Amino acid sequence: MINLGIIGAGYWGPNLVRNFNAHRDCTVLAVADAKPDRREFIQGQYPAVNVIADGFELIGNTRIDAVVIATPVGLHYDLAKCALQAGKHVLLEKPMTASAAQARELIDLAEQKNLRLMVDHTFIYNGAVRKVRQLIDKGEIGDVLYFDSVRVNLGLFQHDVNVIWDLAPHDVSIMDHLMADKAIAVSAIGRKHFSETLEDMAYLTVLFDSTAIAHFHVNWIAPVKVRTTLIGGTRKMVVYDDMESSEKIKVYDKGVELLTDEEARRKILVEYRVGDMTAPKIDSTEALRLMSREFLDAIAEGRAPLTDCHAGYRVVQILEAANRSLADNGKMIPLA
Ligand SMILES: NC(=O)c1ccc[n+]([C@@H]2O[C@H](COP(=O)([O-])OP(=O)(O)OC[C@H]3O[C@@H](n4cnc5c(N)ncnc54)[C@H](O)[C@@H]3O)[C@@H](O)[C@H]2O)c1
Repeated sequence: MINLGIIGAGYWGPNLVRNFNAHRDCTVLAVADAKPDRREFIQGQYPAVNVIADGFELIGNTRIDAVVIATPVGLHYDLAKCALQAGKHVLLEKPMTASAAQARELIDLAEQKNLRLMVDHTFIYNGAVRKVRQLIDKGEIGDVLYFDSVRVNLGLFQHDVNVIWDLAPHDVSIMDHLMADKAIAVSAIGRKHFSETLEDMAYLTVLFDSTAIAHFHVNWIAPVKVRTTLIGGTRKMVVYDDMESSEKIKVYDKGVELLTDEEARRKILVEYRVGDMTAPKIDSTEALRLMSREFLDAIAEGRAPLTDCHAGYRVVQILEAANRSLADNGKMIPLA
């Protein structure tokens, strides 16, 4: 039985409380939130849980084996460091930390103490993304040439992070999970229409150590909600539309082949292949159910979880480079 404490019960935290509470091999012993109304809400739903105000006090509870942190990102590092120092496994909400240096320090600490340090990259556990990963692993898509995502809607404006740090972690983590190539450089252009400090729309480009390329469009001021990703492979192409209720993934047997004779090559003559479209069946298990299961299993089995701290680090590294590029009008920033 794993005893768990959850810090932060704002918008996202209650989903974590609900999912962990549903696993039989774990007990949510305590939940901490600084706001009285959020504490009241949790206490009303879970009368047996010890609901307190301070996250650091929760970490001090010696009965707790593992801590889940769902506060704004600015607090992730301090709380996670304190929990790891106290010998507790940690699950951090995305993005892992506010800087790559903070993420690196937490990784070193977790390794020294042989503790699990995981990041909730929720979409990696989503049935649609799992299906695309299966198709790639089976070789059906071929080599991935590009990853192109649009995640736009009206609001919710965040007060502590810009639109890239708010919305892009999802798509960057999906890209990191699906692309075999290594990201080597990042460029971002954005605009602040309503704030002096925080961009509300941005375009982010990631280059790889191959000819592959990724592009992300994130926007808080779009009139409609769009959640679409195109993944182009040498064999097939995928359209992932998260707003679709039934056919979230469509796989197109379409592609382009360079003609091989000398004259055709010189003129870059290509042949288009147009085959069938299929919409594979997607497992609809709630992503957070699988994500929370993975954290508990990784603790029980003493192994790295699927979305481990290194995946968290790579995402933060890209977000950090994006901020530097935004400040320099889209300059290409190499990743260390
Ligand atoms: N995985 C996802 O799909 C997903 C979705 C939304 C948000 N998130 C992430 O979850 C985290 C929280 O986001 P949110 O939208 O729920 O924020 P929120 O502001 O709604 O909630 C955060 C809560 O943390 C509490 N808090 C802050 N400091 C505390 C402390 N020291 N001790 C106890 N409580 C404290 C606040 O009172 C607040 O209620 C962020 O990292 C965000 O990026 C993830």
